[in-house]
Amino acid sequence: MTKKLFLETLTGNPSERVPFWFMRQAGRYLSEYKAVRAQTNSFLEFCYSPDHASEVTLQPIRRFGMDAAILFADILVIPDALGQKTWFTPGVGPELEPISDRAGYAALSRANLHSHLAPIYETVRRVRADLPAEVALIGFAGAPWTVMTYMIEGAGSRDHGAARTLGYGDPALFGDMLALVVDATADYLIAQIDAGADAVQIFDSWAAALPEPAFTAWVLEPAKEIVARIRAKHAEVPIIGFPRLAGSQIETYAAGTGITAIGLDTGVSTKQAQALQAKLPVQGNLDPYMVVAGGDALHREAERILTSLSGGAHVFNLGHGFVPHTPVAHVAALSEQIKAFRR
Ligand code: CP3
Repeated sequence: MTKKLFLETLTGNPSERVPFWFMRQAGRYLSEYKAVRAQTNSFLEFCYSPDHASEVTLQPIRRFGMDAAILFADILVIPDALGQKTWFTPGVGPELEPISDRAGYAALSRANLHSHLAPIYETVRRVRADLPAEVALIGFAGAPWTVMTYMIEGAGSRDHGAARTLGYGDPALFGDMLALVVDATADYLIAQIDAGADAVQIFDSWAAALPEPAFTAWVLEPAKEIVARIRAKHAEVPIIGFPRLAGSQIETYAAGTGITAIGLDTGVSTKQAQALQAKLPVQGNLDPYMVVAGGDALHREAERILTSLSGGAHVFNLGHGFVPHTPVAHVAALSEQIKAFRR
């Protein structure tokens, strides 16, 4: 079997060369992505097109030679598959018919989950078949809390006030919704693995600044439950948790969820990263705006991250996704720098 550097590193066996991939590596900074994207009006339709989604998943691998591809889809396919009206407005972002009461929750259903998401499983199968054997395929889902902020707010929001208010004010309703989303997310990730994903990542983009009891109930416990359900079917598949901006609570998350590896956002300090790395493989954490800036500053910072985490298992990545105006030449230069580095 061909050795996948990325999977070896996540197993805690780092090699001399540091494996890498980038969050949002398939996206609008690539002209070839925009060309395929332009063929479909609706973003969700694009996500549910195995032809288009598999093509854009492979594009960055061809150009930059990452050690892993990440499935092209979106975290909001889960509310969409549960029957919540979900759409993307250009220039605005995701929009959903918000859920604020029990009637809204009662209208959700898992009945069509897998039939609705079947095109995404087909994308996974096609990408796995087309990828070089040494390149890993990462499946993903949004974490329940992050997905629920969109389900309850009806859009992206700055402080997730409606979601927090519902969680504090009606814990029974919030808990029922959370249980449904946990179920759907676990089933979705298991189906991605069944279809050929080599690893999965759980994106908790909005894990920031929650009080400890809420962080435990809404971020940590759901991740732990999803990990347990995946492990019951696929004991060996690496699971990366990414509780973005969790601050000091990243430590309880890393220790308490059973994940294989922890994603580091841009704000995680070297000292904190090294302390985490003593316990489990780490992934991160270059500021995506460093790649926009490019030049010496980028290469010094990439070298600093590579060197400071060279004592253990490290997958090089960003601390959050590429932004659309990232220059392709900077991504290429960064990729070559990472490939040339030796621990
Ligand atoms: O990383 C990858 O390359 C894989 C694909 C991927 C996308 N979204 C594609 C996408 C992944 C992993 C996501 C996750 C996602 N989606 C998150 C969690 C990660 C994070 O960035 O914090 C969140 C919060 C979303 C919700 C979402 N989807 C937002 C806020 C937006 C931006 C809206 C906009 O127009 O700027 C999207 C749309 C989206 N998802 C795009 C891409 C490439 C851009 C839309 C387009 O190309 O038309």
